[in-house]
Amino acid sequence: MVPSLQTVGHILVTALAIIPFAFADLTTTIDPSSNWGTWEGWGTSLAWWAATFGTRDDLADIFFTTQTTNLNGVSLPGLGFNIARYNAGASSWNSINGTSMVVSPKMIPSRQIEGFWIDWASTSPSSASWNWSADSAQRAMLSKARSRGANILELFSNSPMWWMCNNHNPSGSDDGSSDNLQSWNYQSHAVYMATVAKYFADHWSTTFTSVDPFNEPSANWWNGKTGTQEGCHFDVSTQATVLNYLRAELDSRGLSSTVISASDESYYDQAAKTLQNLGSTALGKIARVNVHGYQYGSGRRDSVRSLATQYSKKLWQSEYGEGDATGRDLASNLLLDLRWLQPTAWVYWQALDGGGWGLVDADNDKKTIGQPTQKYFVLAQFARHVKPGMRILDGGSDYATAAYDAATKKLVIVAVNWGSAQYLNFDLSRFKTAGVNGAVVKRWATQIGASTGKRYVAASDTYIRGTKFWSYFEKEMVQTFEVEGVVL
Ligand SMILES: *[C@@H]1O[C@H](CO)[C@@H](O)[C@H](O)[C@H]1NC(C)=O
Ligand SMILES: *[C@@H]1O[C@H](CO)[C@@H](O)[C@H](O)[C@H]1NC(C)=O
Repeated sequence: MVPSLQTVGHILVTALAIIPFAFADLTTTIDPSSNWGTWEGWGTSLAWWAATFGTRDDLADIFFTTQTTNLNGVSLPGLGFNIARYNAGASSWNSINGTSMVVSPKMIPSRQIEGFWIDWASTSPSSASWNWSADSAQRAMLSKARSRGANILELFSNSPMWWMCNNHNPSGSDDGSSDNLQSWNYQSHAVYMATVAKYFADHWSTTFTSVDPFNEPSANWWNGKTGTQEGCHFDVSTQATVLNYLRAELDSRGLSSTVISASDESYYDQAAKTLQNLGSTALGKIARVNVHGYQYGSGRRDSVRSLATQYSKKLWQSEYGEGDATGRDLASNLLLDLRWLQPTAWVYWQALDGGGWGLVDADNDKKTIGQPTQKYFVLAQFARHVKPGMRILDGGSDYATAAYDAATKKLVIVAVNWGSAQYLNFDLSRFKTAGVNGAVVKRWATQIGASTGKRYVAASDTYIRGTKFWSYFEKEMVQTFEVEGVVL
């Protein structure tokens, strides 16, 4: 007799309840002895989206709180970011001695960020003209982020002010791969960044935790003739000179506790090379290594990790983005970062943007906001649960990450099932106490892919069984678990 489908289903469910591992296909064992650092937080850069949408309270709530906010008819669980990166602009439209900014013919207007120091460098900075009305929308979002609890703020630069550049073009040199900061303005760029940091502290109650004077400085694509945004190449030796000046300029303004981060290279492999060539003096001025995630699935994340450890630097993945709105690339690269780069913070690039880049689809030039992407909910699975102060643990596999909160004895696990639909097992047997037998493990699920899939759906149907628990995953489903009463 061939049993009906319903009968088979019933036998399956009964068997599962009795024989826990009969249908569990993969098991990952969390390692409580591991310590991959104390989590500092999640965040976003504010340029360019906040320069357009920075005055909106709903967006500040969505990114910088965990409350639920309605956006274009969709109820969004806030991402609870506590890190904001503020971009000191390089553009201004005033003329100086009959000279004005040269603009790349491909420049996208929403990516021109207005700078504060609009004078020529030959006058001393103290008598120079600063325009503190500039860039009010990005400043508004920074202030909203801060009032909602963002407590780690970074000041960064995509290019020195246009008039410090050889070709007066803040999109880069004419060949893209040579330095564009005039050699007599190395110190001016440091003065610019330090003065901005000081002004924010004195006038806007905003203390930057860190300042990074570069953005992807080793890249060869910061081209004044073809660039669509602000950018500037710096040879490693130039970076070293500017870093030394920056430390001195921050110190002389009483900002000795504001640390320097560098160099925000695009790729893991470039970051490693820059670190190895900066020289001990400049290296001594850096407290944190910032690296971008644009090498995606390749590159030696582990090399950047070992260098940061060797030089006793903190390490952030300070910028990540791509055009995959499904969240697949984000989930995959974020898991790789957590496992091999082991950063203590992870910062997304454009929270609002088009072409799949935004967590929320938007057009910064037309000033229109569309729908949240599936990527938004995939990131929520991580950012709403792995919180500052937690200890990042070895999740035991390339598809799972774990974080432990000692204060509340809570273990957080985020896992992705890349295979066919199956059960994933989580083995907590190495913990002193693996939670309470029979207790509920809280669970949230998001389906990678189309926006019609599950979006951060909560359930309480998973239980601790001895020192393990398991959960059924559809193919390419992300699930987050919170286990209470765990002791390392
Ligand atoms: C611009 O004009 C000022 C004032 O006349 C002068 O001191 C300065 O040298 C000029 N700068 C350049 C780069 O020509
Ligand atoms: C100063 O900034 C404001 C606000 O963006 C702008 O309207 C004004 O033109 C700027 N002034 C100068 C001299 O650049």
